[in-house]
Amino acid sequence: MRAFEISAGSTGIDGIRSTERPTPTVTPTGILVRMRAASLNFRDLMVAAGRYAGGTVVQDTIALSDGTGEVIEVGAAVTRFRVGDRVAGTFFQDWVSGLPSTPRASLGAPPADGVLAEYVVFDERDAVHIPAHLSFEEAATLPCAGVTAWHALVSVGQLRAGQTVLALGTGGVSVFALQIARMCGAEVIITSSSDEKLARARALGAHHTINYRTTPDWEREVMTLTQGRGVDHVVEVGGVGTLAKSMAAVAPGGKIALIGVLTGRVGDASPYMLMPRWSSITGIFVGSRDMFEDFNRAVAINQMQPVIDRAFAFDEAIEAYRYMERGEHFGKVVIRF
Ligand SMILES: NC(=O)c1ccc[n+]([C@@H]2O[C@H](COP(=O)([O-])OP(=O)(O)OC[C@H]3O[C@@H](n4cnc5c(N)ncnc54)[C@H](OP(=O)(O)O)[C@@H]3O)[C@@H](O)[C@H]2O)c1
Repeated sequence: MRAFEISAGSTGIDGIRSTERPTPTVTPTGILVRMRAASLNFRDLMVAAGRYAGGTVVQDTIALSDGTGEVIEVGAAVTRFRVGDRVAGTFFQDWVSGLPSTPRASLGAPPADGVLAEYVVFDERDAVHIPAHLSFEEAATLPCAGVTAWHALVSVGQLRAGQTVLALGTGGVSVFALQIARMCGAEVIITSSSDEKLARARALGAHHTINYRTTPDWEREVMTLTQGRGVDHVVEVGGVGTLAKSMAAVAPGGKIALIGVLTGRVGDASPYMLMPRWSSITGIFVGSRDMFEDFNRAVAINQMQPVIDRAFAFDEAIEAYRYMERGEHFGKVVIRF
């Protein structure tokens, strides 16, 4: 079968190559899936650059964590799926519910091959049915970015109608945060470096928008917009370069979901300003299969449509990576098989 892999020692997109691999065979608890779509996350750029959690890729690894397809064969012991089911793999392997006691492997980073291949075998434990109203491309956006935003705002955040959510930037996680916040009846403030993207965010339902390039003190603008109170939730994808501002923008009792590293990992943001606001920072790392299934129910009931910026053909996978790297997208970049 055809696949794209990150080659061992890769330091960037040039380390991604098209390859032939044996078609996987189904295990007793496995489902063989003919893949139909995949989506990219910022994390996939880090994997290719050798800067993801495990560092340099030490073995050739099939790329990408997020993919959907159709079940074409099931193992003898499989009970959760049937041939013909439309499914997505979960980002993490063997994380069904609660919090795992040890780190789990994630698809598309060693030691786990990913989904940018014509066929993938998932253990039935590590897959979910996708919402019926979504195309394969739309559903391929959910496993990492969608579940992360859901985990941050709903599973941990306990977001309620009438609360205020601040989302930073208009990438995959942040646009899902905007959509989930609206679904839950919250007020949304979103930032971007682009006025054009902010107009798209308003069309999607954002109540307030701030250009963080032209308004570098955006935390002050957040305080003005919230009459000096601050926001109940921050979807913090920026990392150390934005964290101090996020802490300055949070309301008494507010929650900062620490998710991203877009501005880097090392800095000197002091956490003490959280104390007099009784507010907190929680680390978020994608989510469990239970969270994914809860999210899918909400997506289905609310007929939510993930935002696809651009779809590339399977053969154009490397171009999709380059497009993602340029940061021109609003929402998600997908690959159609
Ligand atoms: N912990 C987890 O479980 C988890 C899960 C998913 C993602 N992440 C992390 O979350 C971050 C976002 O991931 P993603 O896949 O959503 O990325 P993405 O789709 O590539 O989004 C990137 C966008 O972030 C915005 N941005 C960049 N620098 C910014 C800054 N200084 N302030 C505010 N916004 C900024 C830009 O938006 P504009 O173009 O609008 O300016 C950019 O387009 C990454 O660091 C990723 O590694 C973590």
